[in-house]
Amino acid sequence: RGSGAGTATAVAHPNIALVKYWGKRDERLFLPRTDSLSMTLDIFPTTTRVRLAPGAEHDTLTFNGAPATGEARRRIAAFLDLVRERAALGHRAVVDTVNTVPTGAGLASSASGFAALAVAAAAAYGLALDATALSRLARRGSGSASRSLFGDFAVWHAGVSAGTAEQADLSSYAEPVHAAPLDPALVIAVVDAGPKAVSSREAMRRTVGTSPLYEPWAHSSGADLADMRAALGRGDLEAVGEIAERNALGMHATMLAARPAVRYMSPASLTVLDSVLQLRREGTAAYATMDAGPNVKVLCRRADAQRVAAAVRSAVPGRAVHIAGPGPGARLLSEDG
Ligand code: PMV
Repeated sequence: RGSGAGTATAVAHPNIALVKYWGKRDERLFLPRTDSLSMTLDIFPTTTRVRLAPGAEHDTLTFNGAPATGEARRRIAAFLDLVRERAALGHRAVVDTVNTVPTGAGLASSASGFAALAVAAAAAYGLALDATALSRLARRGSGSASRSLFGDFAVWHAGVSAGTAEQADLSSYAEPVHAAPLDPALVIAVVDAGPKAVSSREAMRRTVGTSPLYEPWAHSSGADLADMRAALGRGDLEAVGEIAERNALGMHATMLAARPAVRYMSPASLTVLDSVLQLRREGTAAYATMDAGPNVKVLCRRADAQRVAAAVRSAVPGRAVHIAGPGPGARLLSEDG
């Protein structure tokens, strides 16, 4: 299935957290401090093809047609080393990635990227992994990638803290979350598509290490997760939105209190947040969330998405505004090409 021997292609979509992952307890294993919960999108897929290259001395990594460089190259090669170690197969690989989302702008490009790479590389190197094991593997590329293995809503378990590193690693993976029909949409305002000034890795490290607001947020995030599961279970879009918004703004508060502060919000972000408040005053269920960048994602009902998008467009004219719905989990493409 999926490809000829030693070659595999996979596609994955980004996910946006409604209860955020912010902060690691183990940087090497990508173990998070808290559980998180997300919606996988139906736009901005990443497609990745992995072909083994026996005899080659280096990995050949291509990103949107150009050689991958710098930090991206280092992270992909390190991830392939992990797969090689598990497969006990040292071959280098040729990896071609086509990404349709602006990279490094807090639009979850690393989530779709490492989810697609995990699925394609596991298949190319002959590792027979189930969805849980693939989620754990994707986590080692980028924490949020663990959730893109699954469609619709997924929860990523922080996993056990007591015990060995192996037990912790085995217990931290994502799985699908049941939701009653919600018909949600995320309206994504790309207020700035450029790469972020501070990587999420560095920002998390600084927040956990120095922010006096971090521990209170991590604590309240546990309650947010329980409330979020209940709200999804009863299909209560207003509650889902309220919880997502408070969790995200709280996360940004932890960063603003870090030393030195990490601030991803820009004036245009705040303008979009104002337009979301205005929509709510006018009776539309619209709630904002933001990640490690200035872009704002607005959760609303599918039936309201065009109107929400129009309000956001008029708040920040000239910026791209996309409408996403719940999308599929990562998968191998049945024909390699
Ligand atoms: O993409 P990562 O794994 O470096 O982490 C990003 C974390 C946030 O996007 C800010 C929140 C989340 O849960 O996705």
